[in-house]
Amino acid sequence: MAAEVTKVAVSPRARRGGFGRFMLWTAVNAAKANGASEVRLRVESTNEAAVKMYEQQGFVVDTGRGVDGVSFDFYGPTRHALNMVVNVEGDNWVLPRVLGP
Ligand SMILES: CC(C)(COP(=O)(O)OP(=O)(O)OC[C@H]1O[C@@H](n2cnc3c(N)ncnc32)[C@H](O)[C@@H]1OP(=O)(O)O)[C@@H](O)C(=O)NCCC(=O)NCCS
Repeated sequence: MAAEVTKVAVSPRARRGGFGRFMLWTAVNAAKANGASEVRLRVESTNEAAVKMYEQQGFVVDTGRGVDGVSFDFYGPTRHALNMVVNVEGDNWVLPRVLGP
């Protein structure tokens, strides 16, 4: 079973305080607790902050989706989505760091 994270946003005033990472951890943890074997998401390829956060938390480009992981024009003309995934089966998913900036 795969779970999908569809929206993650932190108030601009509260960014870089670890809240995004914490919300992501909460969602992935809940998915795992409910039997998901992987968690997927899409992110605009130019969104460096979000892509970095997902990578930091173990997500990788899901080359099995889109064209080598890219869904072209997903968000509009020339706005491409990167498909990302993390495997949470068994001990595969261990979060390196959750709380704090
Ligand atoms: C992406 C977003 C949710 C991150 O939330 P946040 O609370 O600021 O992120 P965190 O403080 O938990 O940071 C987690 C990691 O993400 C990365 N990161 C976050 N903001 C970053 C930035 N501006 N530049 C580079 N890396 C960034 C870093 O790797 C960071 O870890 P570090 O602080 O140890 O370096 C936030 O920037 C946001 O709301 N953006 C607008 C909405 C959006 O783009 N959502 C994602 C849609 S898919």
